[in-house]
Amino acid sequence: MLSDKVANIPPFYVMEVLERAQQLEEEGRDIIHLEIGEPDFPTASHICDAAKEAMCAGNTKYTHSQGLIELRQAISRNYKGRFDVDVDPAQIIVTSGTSSAMLLLFLAMIDAGDEIIMSNPHYACYPNFVRTAGGVPDFIYTNEDNGFMLQADDLAAHINSETKAILINSPSNPTGQVLSAETLMEIAQVAGDVPIISDEIYQGLVYEGEDHTILEYTDNAFVLNGFSKLYAMTGWRLGYLISPKKYIRTLQKVQQNLFISTNTFVQYAGIAALEGPQEQTQEMVRTYNERRLYLIGRLREIGFDIRNEPKGAYYVLADARKFGEESLALSRQILEDIGVAITPGIDFGQGAEGHLRFSYANSLENIKEGMDRLEKYLM
Ligand SMILES: Cc1ncc(COP(=O)(O)O)c(C=O)c1O
Repeated sequence: MLSDKVANIPPFYVMEVLERAQQLEEEGRDIIHLEIGEPDFPTASHICDAAKEAMCAGNTKYTHSQGLIELRQAISRNYKGRFDVDVDPAQIIVTSGTSSAMLLLFLAMIDAGDEIIMSNPHYACYPNFVRTAGGVPDFIYTNEDNGFMLQADDLAAHINSETKAILINSPSNPTGQVLSAETLMEIAQVAGDVPIISDEIYQGLVYEGEDHTILEYTDNAFVLNGFSKLYAMTGWRLGYLISPKKYIRTLQKVQQNLFISTNTFVQYAGIAALEGPQEQTQEMVRTYNERRLYLIGRLREIGFDIRNEPKGAYYVLADARKFGEESLALSRQILEDIGVAITPGIDFGQGAEGHLRFSYANSLENIKEGMDRLEKYLM
């Protein structure tokens, strides 16, 4: 009954770990959550107020399929203010999360057999989005030796007549690496006429180096972005797609048919997030950095190998081969035995096998408890 496209879709392991951890909690176990990439902070109150006000003022109908013009103008001002790039609000489609933007784009872009180049390790869901749209992920393996960075030479060697786009993600989930201006420029040069899809959802969560958008280096790019991470708004489901103008009309028609529009009052919350006070966001970034440094130190003491310190997002991808070659078995064993939930590297592709991904979107106190348990268990 089910299509071949989804018959063999793998699970999103981080969700499997979370669901098992929750089951253990229901049985009375005390679990430390270092698996899920979800901010532990509440959404700022001025953002919640904006949604409440919008709802109570009767903003509960469909919006323009591309999203409220005020939100699109705010996004445009945001890109101008941070990166000095011009994004016309007409180039933006507001979506229910970055995930919906990705689905919209891949469905609109991919014909059967088209290849999408991406690094491996990669965000767990990328290949599954591509396959669901009928495409084929074309992996470029990265590793500790090249700092988990996509290399321009490898990219050039992979581009062929089937290549539809190159997907990049900086700051990266799971590696926490941030692509430099030089690397982004090189990627844009090598890509030539092949469009780049840049998932910029962890923008703003950069602790060393500089934040960039691909739009500083090329116009032949689609940007995926959203409010889940920087603004601690995972459950609100708000994101957007920025597209070259020539494709917008078609993308708009796909959006109209598949989704109609995105939640209206949530879009008002998005305006408040971008244009309201930023102190709470800045405080979250400072706190993540403190946790990052602590977590890297403790993991190294326990014996995990971290050759490339993560500089952005809120993940540490640690080489765990000293403790076990199979990351799924190792993470299961750790969860069952000592109640620490960690994501197995294999969730992010074969390139992260033998690794574990630790999320520091949890309090320092919980991270410390998780590390104490691991230290006793593994050392
Ligand atoms: C790299 C990356 N892209 C996209 C998403 C999906 O985010 P959203 O909540 O906006 O759908 C995630 C979520 O973890 C992610 O890590």
